[in-house]
Amino acid sequence: MGYTKCAALEETGYVVLDRYDQSKDPQEWLDIEYVDWKSSGDTRFAPLASAKGEIEVNGFWNHQPPRTDKDGVWIPSQVEKAPNLVRRAMEPGANVGRCRVIELQPNTYADALYNLHQDDNNRLNPDGTGWIVRGFFNLTNDDTSYFVLRDNQTDPSVEYRLALPAGAQLIVDTQRIWHATCLNSPTPRYCLITSWESGPELDAYIAKYNGVSRVPNVDVPQELLDAGQEEQSRRLAARAAYYAAKGAAEKTAMSEA
Ligand SMILES: [Fe+2]
Repeated sequence: MGYTKCAALEETGYVVLDRYDQSKDPQEWLDIEYVDWKSSGDTRFAPLASAKGEIEVNGFWNHQPPRTDKDGVWIPSQVEKAPNLVRRAMEPGANVGRCRVIELQPNTYADALYNLHQDDNNRLNPDGTGWIVRGFFNLTNDDTSYFVLRDNQTDPSVEYRLALPAGAQLIVDTQRIWHATCLNSPTPRYCLITSWESGPELDAYIAKYNGVSRVPNVDVPQELLDAGQEEQSRRLAARAAYYAAKGAAEKTAMSEA
């Protein structure tokens, strides 16, 4: 049967919506509670909706009973402090799974390439329902920074670099597209990330805010791109060698046990 998907995301795996006027809202992300959670880079998360309405950010499939990234439970103590963020996450009217603010520390383009990953949003998602994608609403004004998206982790030939000024609104099929942020700002970046179920509600929301599936890439000097690519190869090779050595050592230990 397959999943229901948003046609707007088909071409590139992302859409950029009209920019939100972030300056009119209070900085609610500074009032909510964060938990340490290692994601791609040096991060913490403040959940607004979680598996059971508690302040934790684990995948819903790691809870009992395991389930997919839908039907997130709003956390009253957080919702109370961040009404505008919750309003924005609920505006599409699509099913919401995990909804949280990420805090990311500054990094480099090479870090972003090393951090590229695909999400696992659709684990346990029942066939015949809506594919889960993610909204990214940039809260801080990281206007020298950008989201890096690739079709393939190590191939630079398809790379989108999307600008992250305050109020930038992106929706990305993060299970399909490799993604990470290059944060050149001197201070942490805050971004509201919401898991939404694809379907007519999300289609209508994308249309309402004029979603486009191609925007100009943020310009980065070719030397920096090349150096980042080289550094990514070096770090991925080092990581593979580390795990290979570790695996070999564990096998030896097991055979000796
Ligand atoms: Fe991700």
